[in-house]
Amino acid sequence: MNMEQRAWQPVPGNDEAHVYPIVDGATIFLSNAYIIRMPGLMVVVDPGDAVSQIETIRRVLDDLGNSDKPVLVLLTHCHVDHCFEFLSAPARLAPGRRLLVALQEEGIKALKLKDRELTGAGRFHKMIPDIDPDICLLSADAREFRSSECLRLGDGIVLSLTTETITTPYGNTVYVQNLSGSGFGIKAYYSPGHSPDSTVFQVGDLLFTGDALLAAEHFVAGLPGWNKNDSLATAQNLLWLVENKGISVVAPGHGSVLTSDQAVGKLQKMISRLTAMEIHKTFTVPAILASSEHAMDVAREARDIVAALADSLSQTAHYLSILDEKSEADRYDSAINRKRFDDVFAAFNEIATSMQSGRLLEMVLVTNCSMLFFKMGKLLRAAELEHIADRSLLIRLERMLDDFREDSACRPIRLQTEPELICIAINGDRLPAALLANSYQKRGLVRRLKWLGGRLVVDSRQDAPRLMVMVPAPMNRTDV
Ligand SMILES: [Fe+2]
Repeated sequence: MNMEQRAWQPVPGNDEAHVYPIVDGATIFLSNAYIIRMPGLMVVVDPGDAVSQIETIRRVLDDLGNSDKPVLVLLTHCHVDHCFEFLSAPARLAPGRRLLVALQEEGIKALKLKDRELTGAGRFHKMIPDIDPDICLLSADAREFRSSECLRLGDGIVLSLTTETITTPYGNTVYVQNLSGSGFGIKAYYSPGHSPDSTVFQVGDLLFTGDALLAAEHFVAGLPGWNKNDSLATAQNLLWLVENKGISVVAPGHGSVLTSDQAVGKLQKMISRLTAMEIHKTFTVPAILASSEHAMDVAREARDIVAALADSLSQTAHYLSILDEKSEADRYDSAINRKRFDDVFAAFNEIATSMQSGRLLEMVLVTNCSMLFFKMGKLLRAAELEHIADRSLLIRLERMLDDFREDSACRPIRLQTEPELICIAINGDRLPAALLANSYQKRGLVRRLKWLGGRLVVDSRQDAPRLMVMVPAPMNRTDV
């Protein structure tokens, strides 16, 4: 089933509930938001971190009337992009109405302790709002004692919270809290991993997953509060839920709404990726700041090296043309695609200007630079530079790009299945190295093999590190 943007539609599996998705403006700075209309209650999942989104939600609520219905705001977790603008002035969401805010205990703690890492406030340069939530979801006590409680929230609203557990075939315990009252019923699943407070909500056959499905992504895995084992257990739990509990639509915190089949595919990939993942470093604010400085240093030096390489090649081309060696002169002249490198460096200049004017966050700088360095690496590998360019400059440039990739806070993870560096010394016999390299190519770990000087260089896949096999230069320089 597909859901229509910014329109009311029935919630699958619950004839009395309707949902209004706001998923077309989401970025890394702003999450999706969902409004749900039930007979006894209005619900907003993740109002987000933009004034415009808060105003949209308020307008939708106003247009419906029913101003006597309370509004329950469910937060999937306490990250900036899901709730900060709302939490800074909650009453703006539904002026004059009874408003209730619910989130998991660890999120409440992080917000109250003004934890700039766990909330993401440090990464986004944001102030943490003061909060006083009405409902603490899935607390450690509730999970341990399977407690039930009845909250009288004023204006005659009575909310019943009952906690139960389900054991899945994976051997995991799933903690679920049932939130029910007059004319509404919602399930809250404890789903840590992306963050310690991550919670997934179910209304009818519709699952609101927040960022739980992003836990294996680059730039997300390794964030402070992220946990590999919890992410894996949560992914298994969600897979089990989608496959066994009649879930037909999955509504994430970022990106499009998914059918159950799409969600199953995504969760299966996530499980295999998480299984192979190990933490390299945590994506903390100091690590991001250090990486942003490192990125700009690399960009500046790379620009100088590429300019020096290009100048030296065009000088040689000039002398060759004087000597009437036209084809050789052309080879030197066209070895470096100057225009493409210039485009990359123009993008770096734009990044530097935005950074200086305070319009760019360090984490965005690091991720953007990473992509540009990746592009630069590809241009270098595509250039025919062997034996004609200064090897020491080439090696320095390659090392700088490799060092950044290894040290950068934006790549906090490694996948165990991808060998990091293969270095084999074989005296006078290149055959075993070639066979090994070929086996990597057959397994899809590498795209291309080529001889560079005395080394057999193996171009790895986009997301795999470079493999190198050290062997003596072959008699004839040919691809393996
Ligand atoms: Fe998040």
